[in-house]
Amino acid sequence: MFQILLLLGSLLLHEEASLAAPMVKGNCPPTCGGITIPFPFGIGSGCFLDEWYEIFCHESIDGDVPMLNKPNLRVLNISLPDSHGGKNGMISVSLPIIYAPNGTCRGNGSSTPVSLNGSHFIFSESRNVLAAVGCNIAVLLDYQKSAIIGCKSSCKDDKVVRKMTCSGSDGCFHNTITPDLQACTITFNHDKGSPKNQCEYAFLGESSKFTRSTIDFDKLKASGHFPAVLEWGIAKSSRAASEIYKHGDSYECSNFSFNSPYPKEMPFLQCSCRGGFTGNPYIKSACEDVDECKGPTDPCPGRRKCVNRQGSYDCVDGSKIIKSVLIGK
Ligand SMILES: *[C@@H]1O[C@H](CO)[C@@H](O)[C@H](O)[C@H]1NC(C)=O
Ligand SMILES: *[C@@H]1O[C@H](CO)[C@@H](O)[C@H](O)[C@H]1NC(C)=O
Ligand SMILES: *[C@@H]1O[C@H](CO)[C@@H](O)[C@H](O)[C@H]1NC(C)=O
Ligand SMILES: *[C@@H]1O[C@H](CO)[C@@H](O)[C@H](O)[C@H]1NC(C)=O
Ligand SMILES: *[C@@H]1O[C@H](CO)[C@@H](O)[C@H](O)[C@H]1NC(C)=O
Repeated sequence: MFQILLLLGSLLLHEEASLAAPMVKGNCPPTCGGITIPFPFGIGSGCFLDEWYEIFCHESIDGDVPMLNKPNLRVLNISLPDSHGGKNGMISVSLPIIYAPNGTCRGNGSSTPVSLNGSHFIFSESRNVLAAVGCNIAVLLDYQKSAIIGCKSSCKDDKVVRKMTCSGSDGCFHNTITPDLQACTITFNHDKGSPKNQCEYAFLGESSKFTRSTIDFDKLKASGHFPAVLEWGIAKSSRAASEIYKHGDSYECSNFSFNSPYPKEMPFLQCSCRGGFTGNPYIKSACEDVDECKGPTDPCPGRRKCVNRQGSYDCVDGSKIIKSVLIGK
């Protein structure tokens, strides 16, 4: 009887643990403004890996707003790397747009592009484009004097259309960016035909926003920000990386991109729980077994019975279960 109670107790403990797979260290706040903040990101001292991962939860009358503290960017979403889902770790942020020095619109903020130099974050090459607004202008994105991307727009009747897709002929153009981009300078060049005193600006932004719908440029100009996606990892050789290696075999780390189907080497290391496990690989023992047998669909159709294992499951037929139980006891 006592043994049954013990067994029951440990089962309950296990259930509780799997309900609360920790995303944060210790008692650190798990969310800000409804956005999950998984370690190595964190709010408050002792809760983040280093200054680049610090989130400041800014209280405002419209609710709490998470800010990536060092580059001072509003965070829209953070996701962990997912090797099985084919996704790198991502942070969606609200990125300031860059106004031309002599344009007629300047916004309130500074006009220098955000620099991620020194961090283990990059502007996602697959998820962002460089866009520029203005008639007959070219914009150059310059990174370490090596990669330069031109971006040129033309307009009908010197008019920037209010809603556009940035096709290049509507006063806005978009183009791909370089891999592993962390910082850039943006230069505005003018054609002979470009009108004087026009509003000109450029920005890095999430490409899906261009392909799925038109953008309202009056709204964009007024807000001064556009959503962009960063990819993040941790240093390839750091104490944190080597400590994460010691956590066990329920996760895997890689220097290569998880974005399928591009197996390129990344400038940082990413970790992901192994197949059959879920949780946060950056926290000790926080990749927990998924009970496949309790999923929405029966993984063992027919008359076979599903038996959960660490990281996997077995489909066994009735007679075999009885046999193994008899042998086991
Ligand atoms: C945040 O990112 C995750 C993982 O990519 C995604 O499933 C989720 O829908 C995103 N949430 C928002 C509000 O964009
Ligand atoms: C901006 O205007 C100043 C003078 O008003 C001029 O010297 C400078 O070259 C202009 N810069 C650009 C990028 O056009
Ligand atoms: C500029 O500041 C005003 C008042 O502080 C604010 O209402 C407006 O939204 C800001 N615009 C931009 C582009 O940041
Ligand atoms: C990045 O920062 C390092 C020092 O931390 C500096 O030497 C380097 O020039 C910077 N690179 C860029 C592109 O700003
Ligand atoms: C990642 O690269 C670093 C240095 O290039 C190396 O020391 C480390 O073992 C690599 N990690 C993995 C998981 O391949």
